[in-house]
Amino acid sequence: MTSPATIVINGKEVQFTGGQTILEVCRGAGVPIPTLCHDNRLKPYGGCRLCIVEIKGVPRPLASCTTPAEAGMEVTTESPRLTRLRKTVLELLLSNHPNDCMCCEAAGNCGLQTLAYRFGARLDRFPGEQWQLPIRQDNPFITYEPNKCIVCGRCTRICNEVVMAGTISLVNRGFEVMPDTAFAKPRSLDNCEFCGQCVSACPTGALTDTKGRGLGRAGDVTKVKTTCTYCGTGCNFF
Ligand code: FES
Repeated sequence: MTSPATIVINGKEVQFTGGQTILEVCRGAGVPIPTLCHDNRLKPYGGCRLCIVEIKGVPRPLASCTTPAEAGMEVTTESPRLTRLRKTVLELLLSNHPNDCMCCEAAGNCGLQTLAYRFGARLDRFPGEQWQLPIRQDNPFITYEPNKCIVCGRCTRICNEVVMAGTISLVNRGFEVMPDTAFAKPRSLDNCEFCGQCVSACPTGALTDTKGRGLGRAGDVTKVKTTCTYCGTGCNFF
């Protein structure tokens, strides 16, 4: 049997097994790394770039969620450069995000809000065009506020890769890219399972449980394991 390999994280030697990413090794060792597009239920995506780390001998920071750990690596997860880059990423996301945390359904349970606060990201650093799209309630159980979407792809990936419903997909290009059902069948509400996995995957207030709106902010609500009224199968994700 081969002995586990080791990498050095912030000066401490950590063992890992083959196939693990740097993010997985760090989290396994209790080293926190900020993420927005990562979801343990999904394949690594590498979209948000918040999980960047420095690796000795590599000139540019790399996304830890998509970089495999290799024996002998020396990884730094916190530095002034990483903090500056993460803050800039957050400020770019906030440049096209409504300033309504005070009354947002996801307040207190929003990955973007939490990280923006932690890194001191400013809403007004990159003023420019913003989406001004209407709230969508064409799904009877899920409210979609596209202006709050950060295009992390978690909802579309979980719908297509885990639930296999194929209800939503990222559509359009560039500034207009967003999750939608615009391709018509099979990507339409007709094959939505109403499982709520997309809501559970959303790190912001873009997708919320319609029935729960106005009944208490997500961060104030105590969650209990139960069988929800969507499908009755008892997946216990809510
Ligand atoms: Fe790694 Fe988003 S969590 S790039």
